[in-house]
Amino acid sequence: MIPIARPQMGDEEKERVWEAMASGSLAQGPRVREFEERFAAEIGAGHAVATSSGTTALHLALLGYGVGTGDEVITVPFTFIASANSILYTGARPVFVDIDERDFTIDPARVEAAITERTKAIMPVSLYGQPADMEAIADIAERHGLAVVEDACQAHGAAIGDRRSGTWGAGTFSFYPTKNMTTGEGGMLTTDDGDLAERVRLLREHGMKVRYHHDIVGYNFRMTDIAAAIGLAQLPKLAGYNERRRAIAARYDAELRGVITPYVRPGVTHVYHQYTIRVNDRDAFAERLKERGVGSAIYYPIPVHRQKPFVALGYESSDVPVSDRLTEQVLSIPVHPALGDDEVDAVIAAVNRTAEELGPLAATEVAAR
Ligand SMILES: Cc1ncc(COP(=O)(O)O)c(C=O)c1O
Repeated sequence: MIPIARPQMGDEEKERVWEAMASGSLAQGPRVREFEERFAAEIGAGHAVATSSGTTALHLALLGYGVGTGDEVITVPFTFIASANSILYTGARPVFVDIDERDFTIDPARVEAAITERTKAIMPVSLYGQPADMEAIADIAERHGLAVVEDACQAHGAAIGDRRSGTWGAGTFSFYPTKNMTTGEGGMLTTDDGDLAERVRLLREHGMKVRYHHDIVGYNFRMTDIAAAIGLAQLPKLAGYNERRRAIAARYDAELRGVITPYVRPGVTHVYHQYTIRVNDRDAFAERLKERGVGSAIYYPIPVHRQKPFVALGYESSDVPVSDRLTEQVLSIPVHPALGDDEVDAVIAAVNRTAEELGPLAATEVAAR
């Protein structure tokens, strides 16, 4: 079976982890600091703060901007639940805005209508490795005096022109094993705002600048030096990993038939955390791919507003028809850099054969581009 993801660990990771373990610095230490500096330089952000996960990076970004009870944060329901959960953790309310049918990210044209006097921040999600339309979002945020938190957990190295994801407002990244680079578990917050970075550092460590002197109520959301050691070995490989993902995606774009392939906005660097197609009879499609030895996955089978905790909070009736429709159609196929060319051939053959058998999506299921 060709898996949907296959993390790559080499000698560099092994050596760096062993070196960290032998040093005795196991919790947050000099490797975390070095990883932060290198990651900030890679992204082109002024500051980077490492965290225990992408989820805690999101949580800290919101807290750092002062989001709390009574506030609203605009985001999308077509995402991993962590985006919306991080808003709930602060006591604020997520407000769901629909996505653009073409690129699966927040539709800027719908954002302004969702802004109220309680709105404090906008959290676009750069899903599957394509940056959300950050320029449009930053423009709206500036006009309304709102914070921007980009959920770039799937967008390491993605860019709009020369500007990378993670450089508008605050950006958050995840280093979960399936991501474009990993630390096992881990996350990072990036920003050009030095004051925000300072507040987030304090919140990450129980509000402590001087040992055992606590200025505010904070958390333990630290990354370990062992995780940072993996990250330091992975970071120099990120550009190569992303190149390989983009090369595989280019082959899929050119050779897949009978399915809707991803749309990339002009001037955008998509880093294909996922290569997500839209297909007819999606669940049968996935089953047939499996029979043909090709793994696939649905990201995500239930949009956030229909997940149980959000139904309980009254979100089920959210007016997000594009998210609801696309949830039924999306299927991600293997695009990870460990795929060999023969495996890419096999994925193409299996998808094309299945698409031929199941036919195209009905025109009524596809809005005009
Ligand atoms: C879009 C998105 N947001 C947030 C997260 C949360 O990251 P983590 O799993 O590292 O907490 C992830 C990753 O799983 C993600 O894909």
